[in-house]
Amino acid sequence: MRDTLAGSSLISAVALTSTPAASREALFALATGWVLELETALRRTSDIEGGAMGKVRARTVVYTASLITVGALVVSCSSPKRDASSTPVAPAQELWGDMKPVVSVKELMRDMIDPIADNIFDAVSTVVTQEGVIETAPKTDEDWEKIRIGATTLAEGAYLLKVPRPFAPPGDVNDSVGPEATELSPDEILAKIKKDPVEWNARIEALRNVGLQVLDIVKNRRTSELWDASDNLDTACEACHRSYWYPKETPEFYHRLDRRLEEHERKLSAAGKDHKR
Ligand code: HEC
Repeated sequence: MRDTLAGSSLISAVALTSTPAASREALFALATGWVLELETALRRTSDIEGGAMGKVRARTVVYTASLITVGALVVSCSSPKRDASSTPVAPAQELWGDMKPVVSVKELMRDMIDPIADNIFDAVSTVVTQEGVIETAPKTDEDWEKIRIGATTLAEGAYLLKVPRPFAPPGDVNDSVGPEATELSPDEILAKIKKDPVEWNARIEALRNVGLQVLDIVKNRRTSELWDASDNLDTACEACHRSYWYPKETPEFYHRLDRRLEEHERKLSAAGKDHKR
């Protein structure tokens, strides 16, 4: 798995240094899209087959994906070079009007992206209770409509993240203060995006792609594919959060937290014994 990710970031890195900005963005999105699909494919292969055979199959998937990405790279590199004075490859897209943000990224997440994502996350589930297994799946027209509304809102709404806006309401600096703080401050997030807008855009496209995938599933009501789509959605949200919101939540961080919890529990039980005496 780590190899896959490393491989594709290598490809992205090559793509980023050798192509014009517009196609760099497209390539990055392509590579990110592939990582997403690969993650699902790999998970599925290892679920079904497990063991060594599963790994071999998984590796084939990785190579095929890399080949296709490299293919895209070659195509884009072989297009004729233009000098700086000629017109740009793709003229900037004109909007029909100005885009003006209403809320910060944090509020957009809380009030739109997060609640509407539940239309997809909650569409299928299996819950084991004492009374038995409860399976949830869309059945009625209204059930499917709810999923379609989720997918459309996410696919279209994702682009609102391209409209420059504050990351948090005024005065809110996230959990960014103190030695154990895991979140970036709004200023740090902004600096990161300014340094590499290509990645931010790719994360947005990845979210939009899942919306498109779900819209397609809704068309023929392919219930079983909703499980994968839900996984993909989770990955799209988490990948962006890990990169921009709480990049300091590393395995070492959790390790330290575990140790502190254990220490705390030891102290508590020692105090409990003292008390009994
Ligand atoms: C392109 C990047 C990106 C994607 C994709 C993304 N988020 Fe976020 N999200 C952020 C950032 C950045 C923040 C933190 C903003 C801040 O607090 O400064 C955030 C914050 C949040 C919050 C915290 C809100 C609060 O009130 O504290 C929630 C909840 C959330 N996201 C849910 C989601 C869900 C669910 C998805 C996927 C359906 C998603 N996000 C996809 C970038 C993203």
